[in-house]
Amino acid sequence: MVVGGGAREHTLVWKLAQSPKVKEIYAAPGNSGTAQIAHNLDIKPTDIESLAKVAQEKGVELVVVGPEAPLANGIVDHFQNIGMPIFGPIKAATKIESSKVFAKELMQKYNIPCAQSTSFSEYTQAKEYIRQHSPPIVIKADGLAAGKGVTVVDSIPQALNALANIMEARAFGAAGDKVIIEERLSGEEVSCFAFTDGKTVIPMVSACDYKPVYDGDQGPNTGGMGSYSPPHFLNPALSQKITETILEPAVKAMAREKRPYQGVLYGGLIVNKDEPKVLEFNARFGDPEAQVTLPLLKTDLVDILLAVINGNLDQMNIEWSEDACVGVVMASAGYPGSYKTGFPISGLNDLDKDILVFHSGTKVVSEPWQVLTNGGRVLTVVATGKTIAEAREKVYNNITRIHFDGCHYRKDIAEIRRSQ
Ligand code: AMP
Ligand code: GLY
Repeated sequence: MVVGGGAREHTLVWKLAQSPKVKEIYAAPGNSGTAQIAHNLDIKPTDIESLAKVAQEKGVELVVVGPEAPLANGIVDHFQNIGMPIFGPIKAATKIESSKVFAKELMQKYNIPCAQSTSFSEYTQAKEYIRQHSPPIVIKADGLAAGKGVTVVDSIPQALNALANIMEARAFGAAGDKVIIEERLSGEEVSCFAFTDGKTVIPMVSACDYKPVYDGDQGPNTGGMGSYSPPHFLNPALSQKITETILEPAVKAMAREKRPYQGVLYGGLIVNKDEPKVLEFNARFGDPEAQVTLPLLKTDLVDILLAVINGNLDQMNIEWSEDACVGVVMASAGYPGSYKTGFPISGLNDLDKDILVFHSGTKVVSEPWQVLTNGGRVLTVVATGKTIAEAREKVYNNITRIHFDGCHYRKDIAEIRRSQ
């Protein structure tokens, strides 16, 4: 059973379906993409009790959780209590994502490189600090805010606005009880992932995520408008450094803190002159990064998930393709602001054979059978190739054949400029 309904979860379902060990897959709630290869269940990812009940009724033998909310609400603890194998960290371990203040304190205590910062629970003290520290700085809500709790600011008024939005207007509710005020780092951003059973740490391939809505990183941040793997600036030495100075120490630190971490650990980093620093940790696969990393995985995903759950990841040899993979997100008009849904999507059957389309906000209606838009991010169009340029060309050659009213997507995903 795959919990979640985005393109990341469609990718997980697609990958699991390739395993000879998998007979049937349930997706909760899934989308019209997962409906083609799995049984969708109309249950919210945060309705943990109903998920557990249905999983028991259906005889589910393995559960994988996509989004952060059910993880932070303790879905893994609940399933472990009923003896059902589930992939993901326990609630105590998800704190590495659900509290940025906790993650910072952990990094400081265990010397994991990160941006310098101070945390505040008093609004007046935070205001005072801003008045005394010249921007550029970054203001972050402590808790989960669906990627919207972080503002990078250039001036004191902007900083005070961002702070008031979190602590006074309470835009993110209790997630804004505390804030972090952080130095602004510059460099290349990269999302790094590792499978871990709490002892062994095996890195996945890394990816770059494009958060702003428009080309050239203009406009407001989104859940992610595209991604590619592997990042052009990552070499084996730098990857090793990231594993040894960030991912492995973080897993060790969590064990020391009696919050043993199992699952995928996701480090959002900035790399400057080969020095990686952590911006945030997440307790799950990335979206849209899963859409461009899982297609490169050669090893059976079921074997990896079971090795993590059973604590014998040290026995696994995980293999990745040497190819590159590029994914571009097609979004509804207005996204990441308000948008309308229900527009027919055409062209999905007119694509080259090697193009993958992972659905997020889509639904199917019958008479006549049609796929309609049903969310802000609608589809991720993905291709692999021998090089980033080849994969990129395949995606952009095909994406123009897909259409829905008002659809927009970035034209510069995985575009590597000469100066880079
Ligand atoms: P986070 O949720 O902490 O990863 O922040 C969201 C986005 O804000 C990141 O992907 C970065 O683009 C940006 N960001 C966060 N922290 C910093 C920082 N210290 N310096 C520069 N940019 C940052
Ligand atoms: N790609 C950003 C995230 O999954 O949080």
